[in-house]
Amino acid sequence: MQIQGKSYHTIWLKNDNPKVIQIIDQRQLPHRLVIENLKSVAQVARAIKDMHVRGAPLIGATAAYGMYLACLEAPDGFLFDDYIQNAATQLKNTRPTAINLAWAVDQQLELIQNVSSKEEKTKQALDLANTIKQDSIERCRMIGEHGLKIIEEIATKKNGEVVNILTHCNAGWLACVDYGTATAPIYLAHDKGIKVHVWVDETRPRNQGARITAFELLEHGIPHTVIPDNVGGHLMQHDMVDLCIVGTDRTTKTGDVANKVGTYLKALAAKDNDVPFYVALPSSTIDWSISDGVKEIPIEERGADEVKSIYGLHQNQIKKVLLTPKDSPATNFAFDVTPAHLVTGLITERGVCDASEEGIARLFSVKK
Ligand code: MRU
Repeated sequence: MQIQGKSYHTIWLKNDNPKVIQIIDQRQLPHRLVIENLKSVAQVARAIKDMHVRGAPLIGATAAYGMYLACLEAPDGFLFDDYIQNAATQLKNTRPTAINLAWAVDQQLELIQNVSSKEEKTKQALDLANTIKQDSIERCRMIGEHGLKIIEEIATKKNGEVVNILTHCNAGWLACVDYGTATAPIYLAHDKGIKVHVWVDETRPRNQGARITAFELLEHGIPHTVIPDNVGGHLMQHDMVDLCIVGTDRTTKTGDVANKVGTYLKALAAKDNDVPFYVALPSSTIDWSISDGVKEIPIEERGADEVKSIYGLHQNQIKKVLLTPKDSPATNFAFDVTPAHLVTGLITERGVCDASEEGIARLFSVKK
């Protein structure tokens, strides 16, 4: 996608040095576009944990490149395997909810174990990271194609009037490598001339909606309005939302979805108001080993500081300010689980299906 008319992915190899990974430091958005160099697995782990990069597909791609850097820096000889195992553990421990992280690291581990020399392991780890990246782009593009049909149908029913779409957090191209998951159908619809308008939940505490989704939509020229997180229910009661589309960090094989905290409350409001509630995901986000999202998906808990304070631009400087009494405790569950029965459908790279074991199995009887 584009920033100020220039095409970007969210992660790439440095042009003149393939031993350096470059990312957009998302902590600085929307106020600054800062490109960061990652040169070691420790730097990659920090970038994921501290959310320089974020969003399930992007975390997966970044971890895949992290394993390539681990191969580069691992000592040759009998210590190589231990080094790689430690790197894998370090990366997997950064953020527990998004399954794409373990999915990418495990693929790298399997590949690395089955190749003999350090040179060959390193080369193949880079090839696999590039494949995971390219694959993510293609999956998101296909999610866009399938989700577009849903928006088109609503636009037709509304005789070409504006389709109002509510989204939560940032499941856009900056959370992936390109296109986004929840936003991919929106970009395609807009590019096709369908009138869309997006209600953007601000998404406290880290404000991924207000900062990142709004930035993306603005750059692409898509009409949107940032709203406080609690407004969605009111908008739905007054027919101001035609559909919701959100992303997910982990989906059970039965269709329960973990996404940014607050998603569940939007799904409840959507159900109460007969507003279709879709979840867009690449199949790399499905955890085939679990059935009960509420009981089995690990929910990341982050620091209270993220709740108690907020970052913003003041006199051209990014400043942090305290919101709460200094000594009030705060709690910060980063995700919640929306049970499958509240989800109208899952928009995947293979098509749209019911959020149910049967629906998912129909599309993914052959896993990729
Ligand atoms: O904590 P974050 O910003 O990584 O959370 C991101 C989300 O919840 C996204 O909705 C999810 O990863 C889907 S990304 C396409």
